[in-house]
Amino acid sequence: MADSRAIGIFDSGLGGLTVTKEIIKRLPDENIVYFGDTGRVPYGTRSRETIQKYAAQDESFLLKKDVKLIIAACGTVSSVAADSSGNLPVPFFEMVTHAAAAAVAVTKNKKIGVIGTSATVASGSHKKEILRLMPDADVTAAACSLFVPLVEEGWYASDDIVVTQTVKRYLEPIVKAQCDTLILGCTHYPVLIKAISAVLGDKVSLINPGVAVAEAVAYYLGKYGMSNSGNAEPTHSFFVSDKPASFKNQASVLLGEEIDDSKVEQVDLSSL
Ligand code: DGL
Repeated sequence: MADSRAIGIFDSGLGGLTVTKEIIKRLPDENIVYFGDTGRVPYGTRSRETIQKYAAQDESFLLKKDVKLIIAACGTVSSVAADSSGNLPVPFFEMVTHAAAAAVAVTKNKKIGVIGTSATVASGSHKKEILRLMPDADVTAAACSLFVPLVEEGWYASDDIVVTQTVKRYLEPIVKAQCDTLILGCTHYPVLIKAISAVLGDKVSLINPGVAVAEAVAYYLGKYGMSNSGNAEPTHSFFVSDKPASFKNQASVLLGEEIDDSKVEQVDLSSL
């Protein structure tokens, strides 16, 4: 029997729409509820305690929507707060485990790079997981703090000099370490994939965690008879904690499709 409950996805803001894009691509029949904590973004510069508290509230909101599983699309939450999501009443997916597994599967020289927010890099989460899977791997991590504002400003074209210079500068340690694989450990970074590839060259494999998680979720739903295949009219609902002025524009960049502002509902999480 089909399980028509939605897949719940949350992020600190709208960046998680890049993960949602991959979920929709891989699981087009599934209903989706997305929550973006746009009122409190960014998470990437905050303390572990705050990120854990916010993530718990985001999850409570999704549970109220009766979702069948929860995906923490946020690289920061996945790195810093995933261990506190162990007691959720529904299956929980984060981005680190699946990205690390994908990186380990493709690297040839065992030199793996990771980029993310300051909180993600400081957590060492990817390194820990990669070393668990491949103890002799050499992991180089770099925080790329300007990538999120660049993407949100609409500056991501691979022929834009500001973009290429910024990418080049942040990726210096990755190039120096001769990484042949790089994990894009933050929601916004897949938007910069062409610019990153232009800097690193096509011999470096870029791991988009959204793709890896979509595959893992598809497998899980199939295995446990929880998929909603055959659903001809999937619904995609979007909730935010503050209405960003340019939701439509940002959604078209991050999700790859425009979402009319009237379809986005604002919710108050303070009571959760
Ligand atoms: N969504 C965050 C992440 O993937 C980036 C934005 C933020 O710092 O909250 O880490």
